[in-house]
Amino acid sequence: VRTIVIVGIGAGDPDHLTLQGVRVIAAAEVFFVVDKGDQTRDLVALREEILGRHAGPDHRVVAIPDPPRRRDATDYGDAVDEWRRQRAELFGAAIRDELAEDGTGAILVWGDPAVYDSTVAVLDEVRNLGIVDIETAVVPGVSSVTTLAARHGITLNRVGRPFLVTTGRRLAEGIPEGVDDVVVMLDAQAAFRQFAQQEVDIYWGAYLGTPDEILIAGPVRDVATRIVEARAAARVRKGWIMDTYLLRWRTSH
Ligand SMILES: C[S@@+](CC[C@H](N)C(=O)[O-])C[C@H]1O[C@@H](n2cnc3c(N)ncnc32)[C@H](O)[C@@H]1O
Repeated sequence: VRTIVIVGIGAGDPDHLTLQGVRVIAAAEVFFVVDKGDQTRDLVALREEILGRHAGPDHRVVAIPDPPRRRDATDYGDAVDEWRRQRAELFGAAIRDELAEDGTGAILVWGDPAVYDSTVAVLDEVRNLGIVDIETAVVPGVSSVTTLAARHGITLNRVGRPFLVTTGRRLAEGIPEGVDDVVVMLDAQAAFRQFAQQEVDIYWGAYLGTPDEILIAGPVRDVATRIVEARAAARVRKGWIMDTYLLRWRTSH
């Protein structure tokens, strides 16, 4: 049976790859890669650096096309399901055609595969659709979430308290009661601005772990404008932005 290992490679710093990741990459025969979206250029650069450093001399790289996501779909959930199914068909076919029956392949995932990434679900779908018989394993990676905390020298939770990881879109819908520490990812709208009148601190980071890294921290009311400007300037310079932040309320809200 074919084996596919999903390897988290960290969110930008090649030194964040784990020793387990190094071992798996050295042993893999085929790497399946998908290039998509905004992170593409940095993802490709990080991947190439990691393969150059750690992959075996005979490894092969197989590119899998990314199906376009339907922008006109009325139901976001349906569109995601459809996209995931198409992606599973493309992955399944590539694994079946490019990997020997007893071979081992790997898929390198940005950050940690358990944090806002669809690869694990897509491979479940490959199995469910019966396209090809595979066994999968996951190697965890250093997420942008933990890199954010490390670079600011903070913890994500306060003593004995919960923290929430959510998206910019969800943040706009409100925060559950009793949650005063919120990590926000995938925020294209600078949703933190809505809290400029509250007693809340922000720890913001862009391009974490890379030479372009930017860190800004302080009360939202004082630094929101600076972050918005830094984001806009970085977007012009690099063509896209990749940022994450923690919001920390001073008193329970
Ligand atoms: C699709 S999610 C993937 C997260 C990834 N699996 C992880 O563990 O970091 C993409 C989002 O992660 C965050 N992100 C990923 N890499 C980042 C980095 N180097 N610096 C800041 N934010 C990052 C951004 O919020 C971005 O919108």
